[in-house]
Amino acid sequence: MRTIAIINQKGGCGKTTVSINLAAALAAKGYRTLLVDMDPQTHCAVGLAVPEEQIEQSIYDVLIGTGRGEPMRINEILWQICERFELAPSSIDLAAFEQQMTGIVNRENCLQKVLNSIKDDYDYVIIDCPPSVGLLTFNALRAASDVVVPVEMGYFSLHGLSKQLETLSILCKQCEQKINVMVLASMYDIRTKMGREILAELKKHFSEKMFKTIVNFNTKLKEAASLGQPISEYDPASKGYKDFLTLADELIGTNTLAHRADLVNSLQAKLNIISASAEELLAKAESKTKAEDKPPVTLDEKLADFYGVKQLDGHIIFSTLYPRASVVQVAGDFNGWNPEEAAFEKVDDSGKWMLKLPLEPGTYRYRLVVDGQWQQDPYNRMTEINPYGEMNSVLQV
Ligand SMILES: Nc1ncnc2c1ncn2[C@@H]1O[C@H](COP(=O)(O)OP(=O)(O)OP(=O)(O)O)[C@@H](O)[C@H]1O
Ligand SMILES: [Mg+2]
Repeated sequence: MRTIAIINQKGGCGKTTVSINLAAALAAKGYRTLLVDMDPQTHCAVGLAVPEEQIEQSIYDVLIGTGRGEPMRINEILWQICERFELAPSSIDLAAFEQQMTGIVNRENCLQKVLNSIKDDYDYVIIDCPPSVGLLTFNALRAASDVVVPVEMGYFSLHGLSKQLETLSILCKQCEQKINVMVLASMYDIRTKMGREILAELKKHFSEKMFKTIVNFNTKLKEAASLGQPISEYDPASKGYKDFLTLADELIGTNTLAHRADLVNSLQAKLNIISASAEELLAKAESKTKAEDKPPVTLDEKLADFYGVKQLDGHIIFSTLYPRASVVQVAGDFNGWNPEEAAFEKVDDSGKWMLKLPLEPGTYRYRLVVDGQWQQDPYNRMTEINPYGEMNSVLQV
């Protein structure tokens, strides 16, 4: 059994789309495939039309049971999606997993134990991870032989990528097994110049650590998800499905890569180079945009073109992008780590959120809380590891 974790702490880069459709493609090729949803957002169930109200027990119950020494069989929670393709759905209570496991020894090995118990039943396990690096993602890493990092080919895709792969490589080193980390270009639109440039940069620096297959932007994939079907069922003739069949073939062919010990280590050096290139590309794009467009005049316009944290008029502006979130908050040492006191406002339908806070000069640590899930600010490159092994974002006023 080969276990592949789909990880990227950046939201909306295509993790769930890759998870669902890669699983479907592997199943179509004759492999017994299990999709495990480790994201409390329950998007796998949504994207596969599994009625949420009928999910009585989820991977949460199985993991909690294992952690507490009262194991429950994972078979009891599985939903069959199509032939050879099953889903272990998540539920919103998974968001509390980290908190509930506090103090429990081996809490990072719960998923590994669960999957070990069914290792003869499946050829492939695909794990869809949440957009954060915490105990859930660490459980996925512990269980994985492979990590696929989907990278959206858009403006901000390379921003923060090096930092997050660095974190990933630190976490991989803490795992006993060798993990093969591969970058996957996703949502690629060949018609945009920026997309082509970013792809060229990624290829230049990652070469063999990157899938040759590219997942193109394809509206059929979006439609399939909104109708609750894998692309193999919704439109088997689509370009989207072809991409996933090719990806499945490439993945099957890279089996031996799992034994390459140097992979994660050598990634690091490449990352520093790509980070510099990313900055260059972004700077180029920004200066081009500025040269072409009228200079921003209003405060709103000034703020429209940035994500992260910025000081303006004696205030700190937090700006972030979460198209699917219902509530975005921030918790930090400036508000006693209480997210209830600092809710973002949704700016527009694109999913941009903003919050303005008056802060005295000093250094602050904070985390974003998106629909109850704590995570690092994906647009702030200043981070440090907190005592729980997670990343706090750092802000200097
Ligand atoms: N290749 C693609 N072509 C077209 N649309 C895509 C593609 N990949 C993803 N999308 C769309 O982009 C949006 C975000 O994708 P997805 O939910 O897979 O991202 P994610 O990384 O799982 O997000 P999250 O971090 O919130 O879990 C969805 O609306 C999805 O349908
Ligand atoms: Mg997702």
